[in-house]
Amino acid sequence: MARRKLIAGNWKMNCLKADGVALAKAVASRYKAAGQPRYDMLMCPPFVLIPAIVEAAAGSGVAVGAQDCHAQEKGAHTGDTSAWMLKDAGCGYVIVGHSERRTNHAETDEIVKAKAAAGLAAGLKVIICIGETLAERDAGQTLDVNRRQLHGSLPDAATPANTVIAYEPVWAIGTGRTASPEQAQEVHAMIRAELTGRYGAAAAQEYRILYGGSMNAKNAAELLAQTDIDGGLIGGAALKVDDFMAVGEGSPK
Ligand code: PGA
Repeated sequence: MARRKLIAGNWKMNCLKADGVALAKAVASRYKAAGQPRYDMLMCPPFVLIPAIVEAAAGSGVAVGAQDCHAQEKGAHTGDTSAWMLKDAGCGYVIVGHSERRTNHAETDEIVKAKAAAGLAAGLKVIICIGETLAERDAGQTLDVNRRQLHGSLPDAATPANTVIAYEPVWAIGTGRTASPEQAQEVHAMIRAELTGRYGAAAAQEYRILYGGSMNAKNAAELLAQTDIDGGLIGGAALKVDDFMAVGEGSPK
């Protein structure tokens, strides 16, 4: 069975409420008007906007997710938000292990794995991000780094139905410098091969593997046409309705 593409918007720390709600309503109505599109759509706003965005997207089929969660269910963790709270607020997904979290908050694979496990335990789908830095790529370590992050971050309860992998080369995030379709496909194929080793060929074929890093309306179709690229995790281009919708609408059949 063909994997259904997932077009996911990572809003990062952008949008006040009025702008976020307007963006979400526009995405929701365009997605709904398209009937039963052949791709899934997801918006991941900042925590504080989640309830408003859940309301704005209600009934459209566009899912809402968060950009991070804590590994514990509750307790003395000032400033943190648990996966159970996200589920309670109407989220269907949570992103974990984004490179900005790994770098700015010193998140290790072990922490990412614990957060992913919490997301699954709370009933969310998780998007686990991995990716090499430019220095690692230049040193010829791309496949090794991604392999290590993949296995280090995947929780035991992962299945193709509840877990999505996002390959995001750090040097391509927010830089306007996209991985070429061939560069991305090489890593995606390695990820699928590793998933095959871990879960068997049938399950590995069902896992969705997203590409992220300066994906936009212009370069998306070529990336999404690659054998093992099953969608996008989109930052900057997800903040403009036309650009975000164009990624999905232009995706190969
Ligand atoms: P970008 O961000 O599309 O702005 O490069 C992608 C991401 O970090 O998820």
